[in-house]
Amino acid sequence: MNFLLLSAFLPCLCAYAAVFTVGVGKDETTGLKGVGFDPSVIYPNAGDSIIFEFRSGNHSVVQSSYDKPCTPNGGFDSGVFTVAQDVEVDADSLPSATHTVKDSKPMWFYDAASGECNDGAVFAANAPTSGDETAAGFKEKASSATVAATSTSATESATSTSDSAGPASTSAPSQQDENGAASVASWPYSYMLCLCLAVVLL
Ligand SMILES: *[C@@H]1O[C@H](CO)[C@@H](O)[C@H](O)[C@H]1NC(C)=O
Repeated sequence: MNFLLLSAFLPCLCAYAAVFTVGVGKDETTGLKGVGFDPSVIYPNAGDSIIFEFRSGNHSVVQSSYDKPCTPNGGFDSGVFTVAQDVEVDADSLPSATHTVKDSKPMWFYDAASGECNDGAVFAANAPTSGDETAAGFKEKASSATVAATSTSATESATSTSDSAGPASTSAPSQQDENGAASVASWPYSYMLCLCLAVVLL
């Protein structure tokens, strides 16, 4: 019986992938609308996804490099999202964009459309916690980095929600531990489905 139980759950564990919800245009210290990302550092595994949720103003998440924090590196670019000023900070159905993490290498990003890269609107995934290229080092480098010229034309409005967010995005607010690392905000749909199946089988 125990073996049966285990074999019912095993495929579920294999299908596990975490979803990280990251606020854009949200101050990670105050939790209010503001400059940057909340949280500004996460440690996802390959296969996990990052859902960027856009707050009031013009924002875009653009991948850059440690050496040039405010210049696109040709990687991920969410496009520009414009959210009206009167939308509450943690309103339901904020527009979002999803990025699937391919490997565990460090990735560096900035908020291009806000024009706030020099003010700390930067984000890191899997940044080394020591050595030459830390998340704090990236933010400091960004403060004096040349900011690449970007288009400010909006591609999305406050009322639209990106399809790519998928069923897993039923936006649980992002949670943070004391170190600023994100915990899993919501379970992926496939995992939930699997869990339900396992419960039914019992
Ligand atoms: C957002 O961008 C538009 C131009 O596309 C501009 O008119 C508007 O003032 C910007 N809003 C903010 C909050 O920067």
